[in-house]
Amino acid sequence: MAIKAIPIEGPVLGIESSCDETAAAILAPDGSILAERVLSQIADHAPWGGVVPEIAARAHLAALGPMVADAMAQTGVGFADLGAIAATAGPGLIGGLIIGSGFAKGAALASGKPYLAINHLEAHALTARLPGLAGEQPEFPYLLLLLSGGHCQCVAVLGVGKYRRLGSTLDDAVGEAFDKTAKLLGLPYPGGPALEAIAREGDPKRFDLPRPLLRWQGCDFSFSGLKTAVAQLVAGNSDALPRQLAADIAASFQAAVADILADRLAHAILLLPQANAVIIAGGVAANLLLRQRLAAVTSEYGKMLIAPPQRFCTDNAVMVAWAGIERLRLGISDPLSTPCRPRWPLEEIGPTAA
Ligand code: KG4
Ligand code: ZN
Repeated sequence: MAIKAIPIEGPVLGIESSCDETAAAILAPDGSILAERVLSQIADHAPWGGVVPEIAARAHLAALGPMVADAMAQTGVGFADLGAIAATAGPGLIGGLIIGSGFAKGAALASGKPYLAINHLEAHALTARLPGLAGEQPEFPYLLLLLSGGHCQCVAVLGVGKYRRLGSTLDDAVGEAFDKTAKLLGLPYPGGPALEAIAREGDPKRFDLPRPLLRWQGCDFSFSGLKTAVAQLVAGNSDALPRQLAADIAASFQAAVADILADRLAHAILLLPQANAVIIAGGVAANLLLRQRLAAVTSEYGKMLIAPPQRFCTDNAVMVAWAGIERLRLGISDPLSTPCRPRWPLEEIGPTAA
């Protein structure tokens, strides 16, 4: 990583392609959004019941070029006008990462603009600081609860490039638990929204499902026991479950997840009592019941809960461009030789110039 003061001389192009969304965004140096595009691949993967890496990579390859051209045409910004080009370089599926960061490196090479290799988790962590997004811009340190299909962790966000993971899942990510449970209930992929919808018709007290790690020190998570308990409940029902039974299981599952997350967040706050706010991100943060429970915990501890609008909670390129701006402001950019990293824990992000 080169550390050298680089003034932001124009809009920043951000590219996201780490999983099953292809996204591009152009942000002015002050963070205002000039253009944003997201293309979900859900329909491509739905027949397989989950993300297929090869299909994802091919879809990114087909979509990315035209998407960037379209966003740039909308804003009238050419490559020569850009201040920098940022792309997610990890963690994620290697095919998509290579396509997105390869595109960004090619554009940076041709235009002579700085390149930024962005950590996807850092992009989620810094989203809440996007001006105008969450009212007040949260000051460091704050807590990030990242709740998605691929990630489930609680992070102390101490500064740009300065993170401490306070806890993470020991088995499934919380979104994965939603998806697997939904599948057991015969609901379509992706399971989270479908499970939330049917749970509204169900009795959350009908089944007393396990709450792994409840009241344990620290803020690790565990969901696989919960999913196994649901598997045992539905075992023996070879065909479609009666709707009321599926709704009651869904509601009981969601109640258990809400209890687990509320308990884990309370423990996380004890680990970082000086936190100025709690930010939730990831697709699961769209869940209304979970939002309400987490809001109750944060207000009990006198903290502010920031839940960015859903399109910024799920994967997007605005957060990638914004993370690029935050890093550029500190004088950081990356050489074109920077590799993609399918596994890239937040603690391994390089030093900042600060
Ligand atoms: O952050 P995201 O869009 O993609 C990654 O996993 O990176 O999160 C997708 C996950 C899926 O597991 C999906 O089922 C879950 O978020 N999800 C939800 C809801 N909406 C999406 N889970 C629970 N309730 C929801 N309303
Ligand atoms: Zn994500």
